[in-house]
Amino acid sequence: MTTASLPDVHPLLKEFLARKVHKLLIDGKPVDAASGKTFETVNPATGEALGAVAAGDAADVDAAVAAARKALEGPWGKMTPAEREKVLHKVADLLEARAEAFAQLDTLDNGKPIREAKSGDLPLSVALFRYYGGWPTKITGDTTPVSVPYYPGAKFLQYTVREPIGVVGAIIPWNFPLLMAAERLAPILACGNTVVLKPAEQTPLSALWLGELLLEAGVPAGVVNVVPGLGPTAGAAIAKHMGIDKVTFTGSTEVGREIVKASAGNMKRVTMELGGKSPNIIFADADMEAAARGIFAGIFYNQGQTCSAGSRVFIERPAYDKLVAAVADRAGKIKQGNGLDPKIAMGPLVSKEQRDRVLSLVEKGKSEGAKLLAGGAAQPGAGWFIQPTVFGDVKDDMTIAREEIFGPVVCLFPFDSVDEVIDRANSTDYGLVAAVWTKDIKKAHLAANRLKAGVVWINCYQFVDAAAPWGGVKQSGYGREKGPYAIENYTSVKSVWVDLN
Ligand code: NAI
Ligand code: MG
Repeated sequence: MTTASLPDVHPLLKEFLARKVHKLLIDGKPVDAASGKTFETVNPATGEALGAVAAGDAADVDAAVAAARKALEGPWGKMTPAEREKVLHKVADLLEARAEAFAQLDTLDNGKPIREAKSGDLPLSVALFRYYGGWPTKITGDTTPVSVPYYPGAKFLQYTVREPIGVVGAIIPWNFPLLMAAERLAPILACGNTVVLKPAEQTPLSALWLGELLLEAGVPAGVVNVVPGLGPTAGAAIAKHMGIDKVTFTGSTEVGREIVKASAGNMKRVTMELGGKSPNIIFADADMEAAARGIFAGIFYNQGQTCSAGSRVFIERPAYDKLVAAVADRAGKIKQGNGLDPKIAMGPLVSKEQRDRVLSLVEKGKSEGAKLLAGGAAQPGAGWFIQPTVFGDVKDDMTIAREEIFGPVVCLFPFDSVDEVIDRANSTDYGLVAAVWTKDIKKAHLAANRLKAGVVWINCYQFVDAAAPWGGVKQSGYGREKGPYAIENYTSVKSVWVDLN
């Protein structure tokens, strides 16, 4: 692996990337890992090193938790809700002003096309800080008209308050590095908590840079601690830490299961946003041009590395041949390359490991007899590119129809009836999202009702907003991020009784 010559990027980013080591951010200060160890983060479009990063481990997580605990009682805990709102709005403003530089950073660290980083990751991250920036003054309790059966006629004032949970551990993945950090930090902070954030080892840089921006915006030291490191070390230390009150996780179902087990030690609360194998159902009466765009957005956005990937596309038989031909033809025309080029629509996968994982599933698809209609191989040359890949006539029991691929690989299936397609769509261990395409409003709502998923899109795909809930059912996890639901994730309810007798 060679070290990158610094690419032509925003001057602020150039300065950031020139650092010798990207240190942990603990108690408001950049620090080396206690072990002194570092790891390299790499630009997946070139295979070149982007920088060295301090490798956090259990001792560093201990220090971060201590700082977070102290900050809970310090200036952060003493701020009024209105003051917290002001800080969060400042974060949004600063991030918006530096959107170009942050977008470039995520493109370099993750490989995603800059056009997606600029139109999706950045505006959404800013919107999350604005949306949750409005919440601190609106987190209220209730008064309840209580009747105590064993004390007839007694009068009480009974009210509830929503309090911060305390120290939150946030373990996030590499597919939307900045956005995942923003999606967690905004509500965690709005509710008055403090946090230890562990970005993924593949993409630690934007979370570290965001941590510095938060300090600049007036978030007191120790409130947000960023500890990059490997999953089995830094991640596992967070999951089992007795001083952490809640863990929020996005990643694989396999690791999610480990985190739930580790959480039992101190009964910490957990929310889990895990994998998917989501159905995208196209009825023959749909607007086919829109549906074709929806198939693309569903599976090729972010190189298919989305938990919500529409990886199983069911097409009603009368529309099947024509739509399949159109999808295969267009997949072959996607412009793939270094995401920094604004003309590029598809970048590399995040790492060699992910590239190889996806390729081995593609080989399974071929050997189990699915019809390869486009792509099916790695791109030659530097970087971890995979051709946009389309499989037709896939059978429900094939490996590619069942396992999450997390790459630009779509499976197309014909179907004949509503009951059949709903059954097949639901016959998976996952249940994150689903989509239905039809002009028949009744059919659409009846399908939405029967699909086992946390999010259903009708005649659209991959739409999200800071205000709308996000999360899955079954083995796609539990708890909802975004919207008012995240306020419940990051607060606990206290019930107070006042004797009025
Ligand atoms: P992963 O689940 O291992 O990584 C996600 C995060 O968990 C990272 O920050 C990682 O450091 C951390 N982690 C890993 N092991 C841990 C442990 N034992 N304790 C605590 N934290 C731990 O995902 P990975 O290996 O990067 O990707 C494998 C597959 O997972 C993908 O191919 C995809 O199928 C799925 N995935 C799903 C995501 C989603 O958005 N739902 C995001 C990333 C991966
Ligand atoms: Mg892993």
